[in-house]
Amino acid sequence: MTTGEASLYRRIYVWELPVRLYHWVNFVCVLVLIVSGFLIGTPPTLEYADEAYQQYWFGTVRMLHFVTAFVFFFNFLVRIYWGFVGNRYARWDNFIPHRPEQVREVLDVLRVDILQTRPSGIVSVGHNALAGFVYFMSFLAFLFQAVTGFALYSSMSTSFLPSLFTWVVPLMGGDFAVRQWHHAFMWFFVVFTIIHVYLVFYHDYVEGRGTMSSIVGGWKFDKQERR
Ligand code: HEM
Repeated sequence: MTTGEASLYRRIYVWELPVRLYHWVNFVCVLVLIVSGFLIGTPPTLEYADEAYQQYWFGTVRMLHFVTAFVFFFNFLVRIYWGFVGNRYARWDNFIPHRPEQVREVLDVLRVDILQTRPSGIVSVGHNALAGFVYFMSFLAFLFQAVTGFALYSSMSTSFLPSLFTWVVPLMGGDFAVRQWHHAFMWFFVVFTIIHVYLVFYHDYVEGRGTMSSIVGGWKFDKQERR
């Protein structure tokens, strides 16, 4: 671009409504599940004038955790479905770097974002290849968390969905082991969220093409140099 001339931007509809809805429902669920899950794992010893049998706050926390887990699970199923029918940016082949240009892009993003040995690199319209792969890993973590959560719930629930996961408990070595894994994965979500939010702000600032607003309105901007 010659000094003093404005850039032209092409407006592209990247994230369709189901992807955006999925994202924000997932965001609320993850926050509620982390906070309520943490309380269940580390119950605070609160002092009340009431007798224990007269209060039910811990039951409410557990109910919140279980109800949110169902919402989280069905929201996740919708996103899996949308990976097959959504637009080119939502589809599953963005999430697993299997084409040579995707592998090149992963290395390029590592050089720019992590090693910082290059000031700028390939700017992709949808997720960059590394982000897509990390989201895929987070989807596997979502699945693991849903399976271990429903497995734990199966011993105290008569509903259909948890009862499908009863076999997981003996497979993983008992209730205690499943609970430890379920707890450990909570920390994955905490770390993921912190790094994810940092990186989307970073890309928004460095690339200046509406990364942040895209997950609300759906549109991104592709810079075209004026000749
Ligand atoms: C304030 C909080 C958050 C903000 C501002 C935010 C922002 C964004 C943005 C801008 C994107 C699109 C990135 C791109 O262009 O490649 C995105 C995608 C994504 N975010 Fe977040 N995010 C937040 C919280 C979370 C949380 C808590 C999770 C889950 C633990 C999460 C999981 C994801 C996933 C899985 C995608 C990929 C979406 C898809 O293709 O389905 N985000 N986020």
